[in-house]
Parts: sequence; structure tokens; C-alpha cells
Amino acid sequence: MQKLTVRGGTPLRGEVRISGAKNAALPIMCASLLTNDVLQLGNMPDLQDVTTMRKLLEHMGVKTSVRGEEVSLSGAHLDKSEAPYDMVKTMRAAILVLGPLVARLGEARVSLPGGCAIGSRPVDIHIKGLQAMGAEIFIEHGYIHAQAKRLKGAHILFDNVSVTSTENLMMAATLADGVTVLENAAREPEVVDLADCLIKMGANIKGAGGHTITITGVQRLHGATHHIVPDRIESGTFLVAAAATGGQVVLLNTQASLLDSVLGKLTEAGARIQSDADSIRLSMHGRPKSVGIRTAPYPAFPTDMQAQFMTLNTIADGSAMVVETIFENRFMHVQELRRLGARIDVEGNTAVIHGVDHLEGATVMATDLRASACLVIAGLMAQGDTVIDRIYHLDRGYEHLEVKLSQLGANISRIK
Ligand code: EPZ
Repeated sequence: MQKLTVRGGTPLRGEVRISGAKNAALPIMCASLLTNDVLQLGNMPDLQDVTTMRKLLEHMGVKTSVRGEEVSLSGAHLDKSEAPYDMVKTMRAAILVLGPLVARLGEARVSLPGGCAIGSRPVDIHIKGLQAMGAEIFIEHGYIHAQAKRLKGAHILFDNVSVTSTENLMMAATLADGVTVLENAAREPEVVDLADCLIKMGANIKGAGGHTITITGVQRLHGATHHIVPDRIESGTFLVAAAATGGQVVLLNTQASLLDSVLGKLTEAGARIQSDADSIRLSMHGRPKSVGIRTAPYPAFPTDMQAQFMTLNTIADGSAMVVETIFENRFMHVQELRRLGARIDVEGNTAVIHGVDHLEGATVMATDLRASACLVIAGLMAQGDTVIDRIYHLDRGYEHLEVKLSQLGANISRIK
């Protein structure tokens, strides 16, 4: 089991290059199932989840090749419509093959993803949407069995905003017979990036990024070349780390407009932020001010930044409330932060953080992807040494985090 060891107290300084967005790369890789041409992807992040998705697609017959940040995928020899449990259990995003498989092959057998640390993570909205488009679906022995001669356009109103449901059904609808309207759709930049890629492949999609997306089915999609949108959560994570250590950093290869809500909260906390077309500069002098956050669907404050921002509040001046409205169990990091000396009271989906003068290094355990990132930030600002265990969570979603942090002057290393 690999661990990270961090010695706190060094303000982060320098430049760091942001990678392509994990949550755009994963659905866009699944779009390769919709065509027998080649999909060429650039600015791809080097992540465990991307490797897992490549292996899953290859299992179905997609040919893939990787050259640095370029990944190409060809669905010409797609011959299996099954996503087995042992591949799905480590990466929930595997559910994103369901819609494309039913649309392209007329059938799919995908393992139910099961829950994860942050919640039960049901997929009922995905299933209901495909049924509305005419798919016959039953669940047996932990697998979703779906069949449809040809999907037909439908008007789907989402009970609640769901990112991967929006993506799954948008992909399925590109080859359906007729028009599909997705109402109360997710508006995340990764949804927009997927739509942009599908449109380059010949899909007819209007309204991505808004509440209602209209897709008019076409006979077939062709290959395309697409550059993955920058990762707004990796960007936010580095900015919070710089603010928490009183540092001064420049993020390159990113886009400030993707994380307005996070930049607003960091400014409220006392950070000085300037940005241009593809970079964001942050400097922080003195102790941060406590800032309350409430997570909600884009463009509001992202749930994937909740743990990181809570960590900033642990040493801020004052008390602040953090309300998590998306997932039912996304406070697993609270216990670990308390081990480092944080003062946090939790009541249901609300946490109140009372700022303390400083955290003290200790051994802590990562529980999920973004919680692990928050523990790294805590270690960077604690007095003394922090050891973070179970960092495989981190490698799923952050590209060589300790290497990038070391380039910013952090005293951090990976121990086997
Ligand atoms: C996506 O997950 C992201 N993952 C998550 O990022 C992110 O936290 C989440 O969206 C934010 O909403 C990817 O894009 C691969 P949802 P997703 O469907 O699509 C409920 C990370 O750290 N729901 O938007 O699975 C669900 O339980 C990950 O990169 C249903 O009830 O999330 C949740 O309460 C973590 N039924 C709410 O909707 C469904 O069928 C929003 O979930 C689907 C979801």
C-alpha cells in the first residue's frame, strides 16, 4: 500500500500545468463506442481511471493507443456489449458505456456500479431515461440487461440534476430515431465538452450547458479530433492549497470561467486572484477568513471542492458552515481532519468549522478521491509531518499530485 508523507509549513510558489478534466475524458472515451471511425483525443490526463476505462473499452473490442497526452480509440471492431463487475467496481463512471452500447449495438450488459464511500450512488435515473427511449431493461444478478432494436426520441424530465445520467442519455440519443429533450439537465462544463465532441462527430445537439438539451438522432456518427477541457477541480485543488499555505502560484493550461464559484469563495477568504485566457494567478497573504459554502449543481459551488475548502476553513479566522447537498455521506474527511487538530461539528449534511491557529501533523487515511486531496492540503499547512495512507484513491483522479506539488516547493514524497 503506497503512502504520501508531507512536511508542512512551506508556502507553495511557482507555476503548475493543469491536466485535462477526468470527468470530461471518461464520458468522451465512451463516445468512441458510437462510431466505427477513429476518435483522436488530446490533453488527456494520465490517471488510473483513464487507464481503467481504456481497459474496459478494449475488453469490448475498441482499439486504443496512447502517445503522451494523445489517446486514440477506434470502435470499428466493437464485438462485446458487456461491462464486467470486476472492471466496474473500481470505477463508477463505467456506467457511461450503457447508453452508447444500447444505441450502437442494441443491447448492453453492464454491472451495477454499487455504492462508494460518498454515497449509495444509484443509477435509477440512467435506467428510467433509457426505458423512456424504448429500451427493455431488467436487472438480474447485479447486472443491468438492456435491449432495444432502435432507441426512439423521448422527452425526459430529470427528477434531480445528474451529471452522468445527462451524459449517458445524451450519447444514447445521438443515434436514436427522432428528437430527445433532456429537461433539468446537468450544466457542468464536462457535459458541454462531451456535447462539443459529439457535435464534431456529426451529432445534432442544441442547448448543452443549459437546463434543456435537445438531441435530434442521426443515422451514424463519424470520427473526430477533440482537445479535452481543463480540469476545474484539479485547478481548484491547487488554488486552495496555495491559499492554505499562504503561497503564490500560477496555474497554466486552465480556464478561470470553469470555476467562477470557487474563485469567488477564495476571494472572499482573502486571496488575490487574477486570470487571463488560459491561466489563473493566486496570492495569499496572512490568515484566511472563514467562508461558508453550500454545494449544488454547476454553476454553483461544486461538491468535488467541498473537502478541500473545508480544510482551508480549519485554520481560518472565525467559524464557517459547510452544507453538502449532493451526496449523503461526503464528510468522511471530517474524522481525519479532527486527528490533525481541526475543530468541526457535524449535524446531518451540515458541518460547522471553527478555525484554529494551526493543524498538527499526524497519520491519516484517505477515504475517497477528493477527501484524499484535502488531507494532502492539510498536511501542507500542518506543523510537522503527516502521513496519508490508502492514496490509491488519489491516483484515480490526480495526475502525479506529489510531483506537481514538489515543483511548487512542497516537501512531499511517496513512500512504498
Ligand atoms: C459526477 O458523478 C462526477 N463523476 C462526480 O465526481 C461529481 O461529484 C458528481 O457528478 C457531481 O454531481 C463523473 O462525472 C465521472 P450525479 P455522478 O449523477 O454523475 C443522485 C469525482 O470526484 N443520483 O450528478 O455519479 C446521486 O446519488 C466524482 O470526480 C440518483 O439518485 O453524480 C447524487 O445524490 C465524485 N440517481 C445526485 O444524484 C441516479 O441515477 C447527483 O449525482 C444518478 C444520480
